[in-house]
Amino acid sequence: MNILYIGGGFVGACSAAVSADSGHNVLVYDIDKNKVEKLGSQDKAQIESCIFEDGLSDLLIRNHERIRFTTDYDDVVSFVEIASTIFMCLPTPEIGETGESDLSFYNDALAKLINIFLKRNGEAQSSYILLVNKSTVPVELIDAAQEMMDVAGVNNVSVVSNPEFLVEGKAIENSIHPDRVVVGALKQQDFDIMRELYQRFYTSSSVSYLEVNPKEAAAGKLLSNYYMFHKLMACFDVAGRTAEAFSDISFESLRTIITTDKRVNPWGLYDSLYAGGSCLIKDARSLSFQLQKQGKSTELIDEVYKANKRQLRLFLERAEAEAMYDFTGKTVAVLGLSFKQDTNDVRNSPAFDILSFLQDKGVSAIKLYDPVSVPAFSRIHPSSDVISYAPNEKEAIDGADVIIIATDWSSFRVVGDLVLSSNTTPLIMDGRRLLQHKYTALEEAGCMVIAVGSPLYKK
Ligand SMILES: NC(=O)c1ccc[n+]([C@@H]2O[C@H](COP(=O)([O-])OP(=O)(O)OC[C@H]3O[C@@H](n4cnc5c(N)ncnc54)[C@H](O)[C@@H]3O)[C@@H](O)[C@H]2O)c1
Repeated sequence: MNILYIGGGFVGACSAAVSADSGHNVLVYDIDKNKVEKLGSQDKAQIESCIFEDGLSDLLIRNHERIRFTTDYDDVVSFVEIASTIFMCLPTPEIGETGESDLSFYNDALAKLINIFLKRNGEAQSSYILLVNKSTVPVELIDAAQEMMDVAGVNNVSVVSNPEFLVEGKAIENSIHPDRVVVGALKQQDFDIMRELYQRFYTSSSVSYLEVNPKEAAAGKLLSNYYMFHKLMACFDVAGRTAEAFSDISFESLRTIITTDKRVNPWGLYDSLYAGGSCLIKDARSLSFQLQKQGKSTELIDEVYKANKRQLRLFLERAEAEAMYDFTGKTVAVLGLSFKQDTNDVRNSPAFDILSFLQDKGVSAIKLYDPVSVPAFSRIHPSSDVISYAPNEKEAIDGADVIIIATDWSSFRVVGDLVLSSNTTPLIMDGRRLLQHKYTALEEAGCMVIAVGSPLYKK
């Protein structure tokens, strides 16, 4: 099949790469020239400097004859003549802190497509095209998109919903072996096209292939993300807090007790300083916004959102509140700039709020390190009198009075031994419990340790 992707970000690029690997002929259109050049470069380092996703560069290089990236709209015009399916992979960020989704990217892209739809096949509009919403969109967007096309006089284009459930860091693996594929459509013809497109999932016994209506698909996506967000907050804000409240309780023991109940899925039962990223927060906010518009109560959703913010604030405040620590004039190493391990996505990374907290506290130097996210982060926070970037963990923590672990990169586990062998006693703030096997040794060596899910370690 000939498949057009509008938007070549995390979702568009990964999904397009997997489509090409399935044998489809793929064109990816994006307005970001730099991204298009890198993703289309067939060069592993260039691709990874743009989107760091395990397996993405291999797929793009291996399937380069079937996948092309472009910023040239003329390419799109010709491709629409032969395309059977167009995937909309556009950003839908929150507008400020309103909960409302910014649909301007989606609407702009659709308005441009409508102009092409009207002219295709010598204006006969005879070929049938599916417009597939892969973006996470408000429940009723499908009606608005179909109406925009109907009003303009577009024929033979149908909108379906096919929300994306990939997990960043495992996006390719998830796209090749998804738990489920959800297709929301109103016509059997549309379900049939999607079945052909996803033949290998439709016929797979290990994939739940779910056919529902488009609004159920869109709402199901928002609710899936809300459920995960909710579960994380139950862990951070309740289980984590319990483990912080009492001595001689380990968070890991509590987790084992909870998760050995077969009714409790272990996913999400870990402690962290923050749940960041581009989806959970935004989608919970969007769900709340949409329910409020329908006059429904959203207190629980809103509390989950607040609990996440509270988690980061409480973690940082523990330095002053429990350890009586004064940050003024101190050198602080912040390890981890992406919102989680295995990705260079810095959207909603806790590192942003950590940086402003430290600057407000009057620290003299902040040394930042991340294995892959320095380019993305330093575009927003370039080096300055206070901020510098270190080439590795060791140099980042060298001379630091405080070490904050913000991302769960497994390479940061070495920090415990580095500190123990250094004859220094920095304050260690472990926002990921990465060093939990070393807390007692660090305390014995004279460090204070503040970890999510533990009381203060202080001799
Ligand atoms: N990232 C995830 O883990 C994930 C998972 C599931 C669903 N989603 C949803 O998928 C959608 C896309 O997310 P993403 O993470 O890929 O975002 P992204 O920001 O990484 O990618 C979006 C791309 O769209 C491009 N773009 C913007 N306007 C355009 C236009 N008019 N024409 C063509 N391209 C345009 C941008 O340049 C960007 O490259 C969002 O709705 C998101 O909520 C994301």
